[in-house]
Amino acid sequence: MKFLVHTYGCQMNVRDSEAVEALMIAAGHEKVSDENDAELVIVNSCTVRQKAENKAVGKMGYLCSTGKMTGLMGCAVKRLKRDVFKVLPKLDFAVGPRAFGLIPQIVASLADKKPERDSKGAQILELGDDAVPTGLDAHEISGFKAFVTVLVGCDNRCSYCIVPDVRGHEYSRPEAEIVAEVESLVKNGVKEVCLLGQSVLRYGVRDGKTDAFPALLERLCQIKGLERIRFTSAHPKGCTDELVRVYRTYPQICRHLHLPVQSGSDRILKEMGRRYTRAEYLAAVKKLRDFDPEFALTTDIIVGYPGETEEDFEATRSLMEEAGFDNSFVFKYSPRPGTRSAKLPDDVSVEEKERRDQVLLADQERRGLERNSRLVGTVREVMVEGPSKRNAARWSGRDGGNRIVVWEGARPAGSVVKVRITEAHSQILIGELA
Ligand code: 5AD
Ligand code: SF4
Repeated sequence: MKFLVHTYGCQMNVRDSEAVEALMIAAGHEKVSDENDAELVIVNSCTVRQKAENKAVGKMGYLCSTGKMTGLMGCAVKRLKRDVFKVLPKLDFAVGPRAFGLIPQIVASLADKKPERDSKGAQILELGDDAVPTGLDAHEISGFKAFVTVLVGCDNRCSYCIVPDVRGHEYSRPEAEIVAEVESLVKNGVKEVCLLGQSVLRYGVRDGKTDAFPALLERLCQIKGLERIRFTSAHPKGCTDELVRVYRTYPQICRHLHLPVQSGSDRILKEMGRRYTRAEYLAAVKKLRDFDPEFALTTDIIVGYPGETEEDFEATRSLMEEAGFDNSFVFKYSPRPGTRSAKLPDDVSVEEKERRDQVLLADQERRGLERNSRLVGTVREVMVEGPSKRNAARWSGRDGGNRIVVWEGARPAGSVVKVRITEAHSQILIGELA
């Protein structure tokens, strides 16, 4: 069949979709890029906030009306369960986040029954919270960068978050399996991998291991030809001395961490069950910046958590300033059914959430510019991505801090060039080849 996968949500979903594409191609199907050409469309859904779920389900609703074969995968399936067929009566199949590896089999079984699928072909497949997903290592390599899932699920249980309910318990893939996957990627031209896990520094924790993640990094650093290693997302508890030692030892580990803080108020952090205080979070930041003052830090913030006062919000603003985030992603609190915080009144108004969001965006705009301005005159090592989207005469790439750098002059994608920075903007650096 000619098929297409639409993806909503985080990098884990992006990676799961890639794996599904590779598995479908291996099963003899053909990936197309134009929806009109597709006989089967799969939507990979997110449910982290109600708006995210609505987008994915809305898209699927439209696709169900086109007469194509349709499948919904990902986090919203696990939340909605059988109700997914009430919301989407014409949907052919639904597959939960740990079961995507079985999609080719489901498609095969449905294709057999094609003439009657509208009436009784619908299928749902969800696996338990401890199921070991299959197909995690399926790749269809395109370009020099690849995502590699190392940890599935989440056991953090933050009060507001639906992820543990939909993605299940933590499962750390065996180190040997990850190493084999990365070696094979590198043999096929990959130069940069990004290791993925909802809380990736918890790799091995559920199996009773300490510092299994730094050990994995160290092992991957032995692979020749692997020029850059990134990973996401992080939690301050995982910023151990051993992690810093590994950072120091291996320059191929990129000096950037996405370290969601969510709030700067100790009271709210406690209510959220984040397991760190503002001071502990800032201590983790200091550890990273002490060994590299240019270490890039990005974060996630939730505004309008139940009971968040003006004082709590101001504490978030000041923490963001103290931490000196290079970039930040602000989300308006959205109660998720079944989570602890959903029992609390969602008492910050929509307008106030919007205002707090705008204030933090403006702060970040100014702070991003300030931080980037310090880099003017420095030479960045940039991995070339390709011509800039906005201006084809310009080329763009990313430095180790994941900052976007733009210059004039074509260079091959995947190569590393030195660029002297001449101009800073809040989200982008401009320079010339050095
Ligand atoms: N409401 C708003 N934002 C949320 N996030 C997670 N759950 C919620 C929620 N219920 C945000 C967090 C997380 C990011 C991926 O989404 O900031 O880090
Ligand atoms: Fe969305 Fe969270 Fe699922 Fe990622 S893990 S797709 S952010 S619900």
